Amino acid sequence: MFKNDLLKDKRILVTGGGTGLGKEMASHFAKHGAELYICGRRENVLQDTAKEIIDKYKTNVHYQTLDIRASKDVEDYIESIFDNAPLDGLVNNAAGNFISPTKDLSHKGFDAIANIVFHGTFYITHSVGKRWIEHKHKGSIINILATWVWTGSPYVVPSAMSKSGIHAMTQSLAAEWGKYGIKVNGIAPGPFPTKGAWERLNPGNNNDDGMMSAVPMGRVGEMIELQNLATFLMADGCEYLTGQTIGLDGAQYLTGGGTFSQLDKLSDEDWENMRKLIRNANNKDKADRS
Ligand code: HXC
Repeated sequence: MFKNDLLKDKRILVTGGGTGLGKEMASHFAKHGAELYICGRRENVLQDTAKEIIDKYKTNVHYQTLDIRASKDVEDYIESIFDNAPLDGLVNNAAGNFISPTKDLSHKGFDAIANIVFHGTFYITHSVGKRWIEHKHKGSIINILATWVWTGSPYVVPSAMSKSGIHAMTQSLAAEWGKYGIKVNGIAPGPFPTKGAWERLNPGNNNDDGMMSAVPMGRVGEMIELQNLATFLMADGCEYLTGQTIGLDGAQYLTGGGTFSQLDKLSDEDWENMRKLIRNANNKDKADRS
């Protein structure tokens, strides 16, 4: 879809870039010439990913262990990057989540999610953004959200609350930081199976049917679809696109919420019968009125 040097000379940080969606997006940025920074909690995972990407795309990849909940560590890490040269892009991908009935959550369980998604994402964004403003350097931020920022979602309430907050941050900072040349967007992926997410959101694959039945295309997302959207948002040429959270879910959330979504299952014959029933009802009304 893109020329291979599309992101040449861009320095991009992907939080949680060692695994899952973060690794996939980071790899695609590297493929298009970007210099990468990835951080996460497990050194061996980051090291393996960095090596894999360097071997494949011959680009620079720097990795650092970091828990984004620790605000001082975040500040030190971002300072160390900017001491070298400013970043051009940031992907707030690091997250935590697990399904649980809300009544069974402990306060620590709530905090485990909210501290990563809500607080940690702010710490990183604030540390990077204020330096962009100070250095008069333009930048692009992508926040990885979920479609439940629009719908809410049962069983993942701490994530729904926290990601909704980051959706509000996306809109708010686009407005506040537009004058500095900083654009802020969100991507709300539907089901894109990754090991980390599926172990916590679909344990034992107990909800495959539930997830799929509401996707009109009848399939999960393909990683290349996410990679291409993230790369487009990182590239020059769409600066006017800011403050938007873009759903990437094959219309799953629009379909799932509709009163008539289940009608998708009807055959042509079913529809013909329904048409007859509606016509009969209309004709009966007309007859009653005359
Ligand atoms: C109930 C749970 C629980 C569970 C943990 N807790 N798992 N409670 N059900 N399944 C509770 C613990 O009992 C504890 O509270 C508290 O949470 C903290 O647990 P720790 O394991 O000590 O926390 P920590 O090591 O910080 O781990 C954070 C984590 C973990 C979020 C709980 O899952 C993690 O590290 N995840 C990172 C990767 C991840 O989640 N990836 C998926 C992202 S998917 P008590 O009170 O008992 O001490 C995503 C959305 C994708 O973000 C959208 C797709 C559609």
